[in-house]
Formats: sequence, C-alpha cells, structure tokens
Amino acid sequence: MKVITYGTPFATDAVVRPCPVGDQLQHFTYTETDILRIFSCPLGDKAIVYGLGETMRGINKRGGRYVSYNTDTANHQENTPSLYGSHNFLIVDDPDSGCFGAFFDTPSRVTFEVDWKGSGALTVSCEGQGLRLYLLEGETAAEITHEFREAIGRSYIPPLWAFGFGQSRWGYKTEKDFDDVVSGYRNHHIPLDWICMDIDYMDRFIDFTVHPKRFPDLKAYADKLRQEGVRLVPIIDAGIKIEPGNETYDVGAANGYFCLNHEGKPFQAAVWPGLTHFPDFFQPEARAWFGSRYQVLTDKGIEGFWNDMNEPSIFYSEYNPKGAIGRLKDLIHPQEAETGENSTYQDYKNFYHRIDGELVLHHEVHNLYGALMTRASGEGLEQLLPGRYLLFSRSSYIGAHRYGGIWTGDNSSSWALLKQNLYHMPGLNMCGFLYTGADTGGFGGNADRELLLRWLALSAFTPLMRNHTALGTRRQECYQFGDTQAFANVISLRYRLLPYLYSEFMKAALNGEMYMQPLGFVWPQDENARACEDQLLVGQCVMIAPILEQGALTRKVYLPTPMTEVRWDGARFRTRAAAQGWRDITVPLDEVVFFLRDGAAIPVGGPAQCTDQVSLEQVQLLGPGSTYQQYLDDGQTREYGPDHIRTLTRA
Ligand code: NOJ
Repeated sequence: MKVITYGTPFATDAVVRPCPVGDQLQHFTYTETDILRIFSCPLGDKAIVYGLGETMRGINKRGGRYVSYNTDTANHQENTPSLYGSHNFLIVDDPDSGCFGAFFDTPSRVTFEVDWKGSGALTVSCEGQGLRLYLLEGETAAEITHEFREAIGRSYIPPLWAFGFGQSRWGYKTEKDFDDVVSGYRNHHIPLDWICMDIDYMDRFIDFTVHPKRFPDLKAYADKLRQEGVRLVPIIDAGIKIEPGNETYDVGAANGYFCLNHEGKPFQAAVWPGLTHFPDFFQPEARAWFGSRYQVLTDKGIEGFWNDMNEPSIFYSEYNPKGAIGRLKDLIHPQEAETGENSTYQDYKNFYHRIDGELVLHHEVHNLYGALMTRASGEGLEQLLPGRYLLFSRSSYIGAHRYGGIWTGDNSSSWALLKQNLYHMPGLNMCGFLYTGADTGGFGGNADRELLLRWLALSAFTPLMRNHTALGTRRQECYQFGDTQAFANVISLRYRLLPYLYSEFMKAALNGEMYMQPLGFVWPQDENARACEDQLLVGQCVMIAPILEQGALTRKVYLPTPMTEVRWDGARFRTRAAAQGWRDITVPLDEVVFFLRDGAAIPVGGPAQCTDQVSLEQVQLLGPGSTYQQYLDDGQTREYGPDHIRTLTRA
C-alpha cells in the first residue's frame, strides 16, 4: 500500500499502520477544478468494482452513483445515493488487466460514479481541503482486502452474548412491555438474548437519564432480566437537550464541549428531545467526557448500547426552521436521489468544531462525526466495564470499526431491502465492519410472516441479528405471526451454529479476514462465481444461498466446487453430497438450507434458549471433513489472541 497526499488533508485516523509514500499516481488520471479533485480510470467490460461499504445496490457497484455524505435516509431505495456511513474503499477487479484497491481518505463529500450511465469509467470526485489516496496492489481482491484491513487496525470484538438474537421495537415504554417480549419468546421457545431500549426509556428523550416512572429501579429490573438470560441495550442519541440543571447539559456547556454556530455560541438544532446541542466529538476532552457519561447506565448493570441520530440527524435548526417540512418534502419528492442533497445539508454549513484551536466548518469534516461518537463511547466503555461491551452505531466512517459495530439504519419491510442486507455485508467487511447487520424484518412498513422468516434465515448468519421495527408499524416480534414453530426452528439454527459463527468471526477479526465474502473473492477465475450476487461465503467453510423472493419455495444455487448440502429442520441437520454446478434447492419456510465447502466440517452445539446455555466447547463436527480449527475463548474478557485455537478431530 502506498499513499499520495493532495492538498492539506484532515487526519481521519482511519489508517493506523505507517504507509510508504507513493511517488506517482497509478491507475487513475487526475484533474482539478476550483472545488473538486477528480480521479478517473477506464473500467474494462468484465471488471467488477467491489467495496464502498454501506451503499445501495449490488455487491458489484457498477452502474451506480454513490455519494459519501452521511445522511439520515429513512426509507432508502435502490437509487438513494447516501446512507448513514461513508466507506471510501473500493477494489477494481478486472480479469484482463488485474486488481487494485483505492481508499479515498477524506471526511468531506466524495462522489463515486461507477460506469454511471454507461460511461465505461470509474470517476471519483472529492470535495474539501485535501485527501490521502491509498493505493493497493495484489493478485486478488481477497489479498488486497487483507492488506487494507491490516492497515486500518483490528475490528471491534463484541461479547459472545451479542451474537445471540436481539429484539427491538421503537415504542416499548414500560417494564411490562419488556416483560411481554421476554415471556413471548420464552413461552414459545424461541431463543432470545437481548432487547433494545429505544428512546422511550429516557426521561423526555434526554441522554443518560432514565424515565423515573417507567423504570423506578432500572438496576433491579436489568438484574432480574439478566437472571432470565436477557440483557437490556439502551439507545443513546447524539444531541444533548438544552436544559440547565441536567448534569450532561451543564458540564458540556460549562466546558465548551458543544459545537458552535457562526456567532461562537453553542449551535442549536432540534431532535427528539426538542432543542439540543451537539457534542463536539472532535475535541479529545469532549470525547472523554461523553464516554464517561455512559457510567449512568453501566452502574445500572447495562453492558451494551446503540448510538443513534449521529450523522447528525437534524429535524430543524436555528438557521433552518423549516427543516422538518423540508425533510418531509425530501421524502415525497426525493430530489436527493439525483443530487445527494437534502434540507439537512444546509445545516451542516451552519456549525463548527474546535480542532487544535481552530474553528472548522462541520461540512468539511462531516463524515467523521458519527465515527468519533463511536470512538468516544467505545473508549468510555473500555474504562467503565471490565470485559467486552456491545456497541453499534448508525453513522460511521472507516476507523470506527475499531470501537464498535454498525447497523444499516432505517430500511423497510420489503424483499428489495432483504436483498440489500445480503449485498451490504461484503462491502462492510472489506472496510473492517464485521459486527454488522440490518433491521431484520424491516424498520418501516409492515412485515408479513413469510418476509420475516426468510429474513431471519439470512440474518441467522450476520453477526448482528436483531429484529427492529418502527413506531406505528405492525408488531414484528416473532410470536406475532400465528404458528411460532417455524420461527423457533430458524432462530435455533443460529444458536446451534454459534460455535462455528463465533470462531469464524474471531478469526476474521484477529487476522484481518472477511467474515462474509462474495464467491468471486474465493473463485476469481470462475465466471459464474464472479457474477453471483445472491450467495455468500460465511467464514471459510459455509456458503449461504437464502431465498430472497416472495412466494418462492425453490431457487437456483451455483456451486463452484462439489459441496455438502445441509438442511436444518429445527430438530436435526441432514446432509447430502451436492455436485459442482447449478442446482435447484427447495426450502420450506420452517427450514434453512446452506452448504459446506468441499471436505469441510464445522462445529455445532446443542439446543439453547440464550447464549448462557451455549457451550463453545461441547461441540460435534458436522460435515464430511475430519478436522476444524476452532477459535475458542470465554466470550467475555478481552483476553483474545491467536493462541486460542484448538484442532477438533472427528472421534
Ligand atoms: C432512528 C433509528 O434509526 C431507529 O432505529 C430508531 O428506532 C428511531 N430513530 C427512534 O429512536
């Protein structure tokens, strides 16, 4: 990897390994205008463009236009140019001319046009003061990704319980609401490990408060649920309510920890609690202070959090009072689909950060804001808790993957967004985000039984497996759809596979490897594998081919080599040899089918209702192979490392 510097770039800390300076630009031609630095290269007909993390459309990014400018884009669709995170790393993989990787490291806005409108070119236009362009060479996309991952540092490692199934819904308010969820799952023998607390647990949506009537003794309540094998995971929003007398507000205001407006006063913007100030996460002291505030909840037995609204999302501001109406218009007339701009965009030019004694306009460094919130929380939680913590964020930039995971924001209950969940995973893994997943079942809109079951059959393999849905939508807990046996079957697969999934996650995190990768990464010479957009490898031994169409009981699957087909019916695994090439599989709603790579064996465990009941040690080998290298540790402490490998051999 080599780096070339343009202008005066902002230090993002995305790359943590020293990197030699490149003497001349390769692959791209370079032009400049007053406001843009433009990099262009031709794309051969067969070239695949992998990467770009959290962007819409397929695994191969060809044909699209993507704008790195973190945006609260509820109800995003295929053509939405900007989502919640910015991950400017891509690989061009051309069978005729070879592979290279490029990371455009700048927190300003970047536009990627990838064979856009049939241009036959990749064009990357960067705004802002400057950037660092990292170029990577290698034989394969997998090799280049590995080098990049080593350069950006080790991915965040969650506790084992975070690999259990989580339930969430915007609208749970009282202890009774949470008790109902626990009994709903336990009574129907559907495994459950954690429940998210959305904004209603707070006192008037004020961060680091607990609603005094709804949770009079949160510690006692969290302890009670913990006895039942369930943990509570509260939400924390970016904005701090302007309310003298509230400790977070008072300390933040007294120390100058908030972002400033044009007049040098704390910038005001409305989010859930009404008018708020945004913490200036660019100041190290503000980060340390904000991270330490999580103690209010860790003292009550909480070990996991999700950070939200941290693009930051703004309903309206002191300079843009019509913001909310503007946002509504954006939803109705999505002009942003073409321009990448929405009404909040104006707000980002109305506030400042204090960085090394200088005022920096937010717009210039916008894409780093959420990532620095994750860093603040992650560093805080490392101090506050003796072991691992669960943390996932909505907004992100490469670098945040060292402190927490991400979820992919406000998707919707549609088959298109189910597919998108699969497409997102490899691009995110390439950028270091391993602990990630989508709102299973969809956030907006109403899921039906079939969609939720098919979605669970995919998210059973994603590290973050959480059912979450919006206020006002149909109830989406797995016991709300009549007969629950199919749900118990599908989610129980996740728990049976935990010894394998956890082992593969840990190996991927510790060795800078992909946890979920496209078939083209493993079989780059195989045209069918390269073209395959709806199958993934999970770890080194498993291939998934989920059903992604409404009403479909069958689908075509491509096997680049002979494999073993595995069918899970809720009680047992059935295996049979499957020949190389195209095959049809039939998958009833209450079963899951996946494949083991030729000659592989994987460890599986016994039945469990929560991860407390999962043993990573008492396992059996599934598949024709005779050995498996299992990563094994206690799943709680930070004592992880490469020496935790044991060789499992068939007895
Ligand atoms: C937006 C988040 O993306 C969503 O998950 C959450 O439920 C709502 N905010 C309310 O907090």
